Amino acid sequence: MNGDSKKAIYHQALRELDAVLEGVDDPITAMATCACVLHQLLPYASWTGFYRVVAPRLLRVGPYQGPLGCLEISFDRGVCGAAARQRAPQVVPDVHAFPGHIACDEAARSEIVIPIYDPRGELVAVLDIDSHQPGSFDDHDRVGLERIAERLRSCLGGAGAAFTT
Ligand code: SME
Repeated sequence: MNGDSKKAIYHQALRELDAVLEGVDDPITAMATCACVLHQLLPYASWTGFYRVVAPRLLRVGPYQGPLGCLEISFDRGVCGAAARQRAPQVVPDVHAFPGHIACDEAARSEIVIPIYDPRGELVAVLDIDSHQPGSFDDHDRVGLERIAERLRSCLGGAGAAFTT
């Protein structure tokens, strides 16, 4: 998919999230709504969802759409662990070339993971999107998803969000 089409999709996602997340401060509600909007709009997404930080260096699956995901991922493992550990987005064109990639879905070929922060700037989750096609994600996805992460931030301050130090 070309960059202009991706920009249009992320613009639409942001509009939808702006409309429905106004005043929301329940993190699970915000994450579930975001996973749904993105999964519906991104034709190349096979799995769209969140892993929450629930203990020091431990992620646990949160709201998602798609086939069954792994329940827990340590910061030491996989693409999600790398994003959480480095607090940096991971764009992986070929998951088989990523050391330690965790194959929840055997058919997954490419993946993007974006760190998610609460209003205090604490890492509370990562947003993970998988695709069955190789090379689905690029800088347009990273920029679009980082904007969405920024929009979510104000919704993630309520109780029960995630473990923070
Ligand atoms: N592939 C991820 C694990 C999560 S699933 O893709 C839903 C990883 O390597 O972190």
